Amino acid sequence: MIPYKTLININRGGRQAIYIQIANRLIELIKYRKLPPNTKLPGSRILSELLGVHRKTVVAAYEELTIQGWLISLPQKGTFVNAHLPILKQASLVGESIRKNLTSSGFEFKRNVSLDRKFPQTCEDTYMYVNDGISDGRLAPINDIALIYRNLVSKKHITAHLAYGTTYGNQTLREELVTYLNETRGLNIGIDNIMITRGSQMGMFLAAQLLFEDNDYVVVGHTNYSSADTTFEIARAKVLRVRVDKRGLVIDDIRKCCETHNVKAVFTTSHHHHPTTVTLSADRRLELLNLAKTYKFAIVEDDYDYDFHYNHAPILPLASHDLNGHVIYVGSICKTVAPVYRVGYLVASKSFVDECAKLRRFVDRQGDALLELTFAKFIKAGYLDRHIKKVLKVYIARRDLFCSLLETELSDFFSFELPKGGMAVWVTLNKAYSWETVTQEALKQKLLIVEWQRYDMANINHNAIRMGFAAYDETEIHEFMKRLKKTMIEVSRLNGALAKG
Ligand SMILES: Cc1ncc(COP(=O)(O)O)c(C=O)c1O
Repeated sequence: MIPYKTLININRGGRQAIYIQIANRLIELIKYRKLPPNTKLPGSRILSELLGVHRKTVVAAYEELTIQGWLISLPQKGTFVNAHLPILKQASLVGESIRKNLTSSGFEFKRNVSLDRKFPQTCEDTYMYVNDGISDGRLAPINDIALIYRNLVSKKHITAHLAYGTTYGNQTLREELVTYLNETRGLNIGIDNIMITRGSQMGMFLAAQLLFEDNDYVVVGHTNYSSADTTFEIARAKVLRVRVDKRGLVIDDIRKCCETHNVKAVFTTSHHHHPTTVTLSADRRLELLNLAKTYKFAIVEDDYDYDFHYNHAPILPLASHDLNGHVIYVGSICKTVAPVYRVGYLVASKSFVDECAKLRRFVDRQGDALLELTFAKFIKAGYLDRHIKKVLKVYIARRDLFCSLLETELSDFFSFELPKGGMAVWVTLNKAYSWETVTQEALKQKLLIVEWQRYDMANINHNAIRMGFAAYDETEIHEFMKRLKKTMIEVSRLNGALAKG
């Protein structure tokens, strides 16, 4: 007899009923042929004594396994391992140790190296990140949001929102956003022009899936938001790059692309170009719209940080001037409030929105209706406006401190322009140094710089990265700069040594 007592471990405080634990363990022993076909199992009394459980528990386990077909019970003879289980004929299982975590699959599937990304490894809290420009979660109005949510779910009629709903997103939030976007961004849309997404990224993804076929082109900046490039590539588009100067995308370059290629879309982060932070000038916006009309392409306008402008009122999005249905406008509250709240929107012509809503069903049946309703109330009651006003003041002070320290302490190494908005500075490293070395040395100062390569998808060697300032308070910004300065002193020492050597 095999050592049942050793092989069947019972977790008495566990979530699973003990008879199920015994049954599952017996299945494993059968599968891995510790209990070969036709093995006679001990009688229920013997096994219950061995395992220190009630006899009825073993009887229940045996019954369960008999129903499932793992065991057969023969009157007057006892209980046996079923010899006719197909799984027992799979020789490959025999002799293998019991595996808990599968690392590779037993079938081929598509892999896409362009999806590989190096996410920040989780480090102790003592590390600081050089981030892409993220909001400060500590300022997120989570209590207000939670209060509205709780209030909502306490209402009787809320049960209506618990069923499957529309793929366009919650109607109340759509209505609220129509008013909000028309008032704050000069749009002129109705309810048919908007659907709720799980963030701007979902909007871009849906749009890309509908826009491109093989051999279609999308035009993006020489520097660009790398996830947008990837989103378009996944949709089988080919990426064409144009220059980005101090007034944003160079429209003449886009025109040339249209003359020679089948351009289906142009992607722009018009308010603050990602990553360089420059604003697409008003005249270029109109030029781009005219070009879209001539060449019949779509403009995917990702207005990811419209709410954060520090010097003057923001230039209205291209979507506000779109008379001919060329602009697909995506945005979200993820950047404004906190990325964890996956609530965004896609605005376009009715026909395009309808198709996106149909497609959405097959990747995400619907959004989080309760959260969407919460945000409808959040916006209607003026919480969003108040939150934006509050954080704007904080972020402008952080930008100023961050940039002044960068200027006074580190100008031998870095150059930059004061960003007019957004949550990051575009910082160029003196060409004498490389981010590779800076990254390595920064790690010793507990400063993590991840994925600096993604800012130069076209390999133009601009030697710049984004440094987010908004997520750090005053003390943290001082600490950040201290670490960066120590890093650069060491990098410079290494460079000097190398030059002498
Ligand atoms: C330029 C840009 N667009 C879109 C996104 C995605 O935003 P969301 O969280 O709304 O999906 C990001 C997020 O970092 C971004 O930087």
